[in-house]
Amino acid sequence: MSRRFYIETVGCQMNVLDSELVAETLLRAGYTRAPSPREADTILFNTCSVRQHAEDKVYSALGRLKHLKERRPQTIIGVLGCMAQKDREAVFRRAPHVDVVVGPGQLGDLPELLRRVEAGKGPQLEVALDRRAADRRTVEQSFGRFDPVRLAEARPHPWQAMVRIMTGCDKFCSYCIVPRVRGPEQCRPAEEIEAEVRRLADQGCREVTLLGQTVNSYRSTSSGRTMRLSDLLERLSGIEGIRRLRFVTNYPRHMTPDLLQAVRDLPKVCPYLHVPAQSGSDAVLRRMKRGYTVGQYRQMLAAIRQTVPQAAVTSDFIVGFCGETEEDFQQTVALVREARFKNAFIFKYSPRPGTKSAELYADDVPDEVKRRRNHELLAIQNAISLQENQPFVGRVVEVLVEGPSKVARKGADSGETTQLTGRTVCDRIVVFDGPRAWTGKFARVKIEAADALTLFGRVVQVDG
Ligand code: SAH
Ligand code: SF4
Ligand code: F3S
Repeated sequence: MSRRFYIETVGCQMNVLDSELVAETLLRAGYTRAPSPREADTILFNTCSVRQHAEDKVYSALGRLKHLKERRPQTIIGVLGCMAQKDREAVFRRAPHVDVVVGPGQLGDLPELLRRVEAGKGPQLEVALDRRAADRRTVEQSFGRFDPVRLAEARPHPWQAMVRIMTGCDKFCSYCIVPRVRGPEQCRPAEEIEAEVRRLADQGCREVTLLGQTVNSYRSTSSGRTMRLSDLLERLSGIEGIRRLRFVTNYPRHMTPDLLQAVRDLPKVCPYLHVPAQSGSDAVLRRMKRGYTVGQYRQMLAAIRQTVPQAAVTSDFIVGFCGETEEDFQQTVALVREARFKNAFIFKYSPRPGTKSAELYADDVPDEVKRRRNHELLAIQNAISLQENQPFVGRVVEVLVEGPSKVARKGADSGETTQLTGRTVCDRIVVFDGPRAWTGKFARVKIEAADALTLFGRVVQVDG
């Protein structure tokens, strides 16, 4: 009988993509997918180390599996991804019932590692080299590539796909573990990305999101010509069948005029830009080693507004970073008020062992202050998000229908119509009624109401 796997994912979109690719690889290797961990004999966690909370979640889930492993010793438990790379053999010490620990650069070897466990060869560990363990080239090579040929049926939505255009990060922001766990920045060759997107288009994919930790610093040389993200977008725009191209996440200093012009001039490129600011205080940005001042971030925003006035801009902020005073925080508040982001993710600073900020500065903002600043900033941003959504009432927007809303998925399917959701080009969520069969189609929706996170409307036209 074939083995049945279940995979649980935490972390960013890069991890969501990796989990999808792991699932595809296992399906090709003859596994089937189990609907829940209970029904699986191979339970995998694709993990994140960006904040302590993300790690705690996985370790407590692992703890809960201890009894299951005692009852069913043939169950294989695997820890994949960023926390595997960071904690390595320490995972086995904290959770001795784990069988496999695999870093993000070794995911392609997973079927073989699982086979070794099944064959009774004991716990398996495969991770990449530490960034300081060898010269750059050797470390790069140790973060193996994992972009297997895509299976349409393994993707959650055949009409949507994420495509990796680069891996790793070289920015080393002082608080961030990503450069360590994802390795040196490496860009995929443009031809390879183009071939993948062509295959996806042939499989019926309509919307592609290009992924990279600093996606707008993409650069690759082919036949003597350097391709930037703007050039890549132009090239991918030529692929028939693809209707929308997105890219995340942007680094403020690389938001160059050629990229903004590409967003303005290429109709398939969505006017949606996620460009994390992290803080509105120069002193904090300096300690974060972000490489720009608030003034430069403001100039970058002004350039976006001037070149692509209809763009939706979103951001990330960290509150309670080491030494953040009330005055620093108020400068962040001022930036948020002024920038008018479509939305912003706000995180409480979480010191990560092995990063510069954890080594150099005390985590000296008390948790209740972090929490208060988080709530305050979120309330201000929510009010702005609502104001930014209001003008959509009365307008007709185009959405790609993603399927039943969360509410509809919970309730019974009561027949013909149900509550559906879709997204606009600027990544706004729209809720409307319609048959499930519209899923994957483009629809025009007249907006009738809006709250801070969602637009509500009525479908006026659906693509064939
Ligand atoms: N590569 C992306 C972000 C990756 S991590 C970028 O540079 O924008 C996603 C977000 O997590 C970051 O933007 C930051 O806001 C937050 N983050 C990263 N490290 C953190 C830490 N130690 N504590 C709290 N938040 C953190
Ligand atoms: Fe982390 Fe900074 Fe790299 Fe983003 S740019 S992944 S925040 S080090
Ligand atoms: Fe987390 Fe790794 Fe992404 S640490 S945020 S899953 S790159």
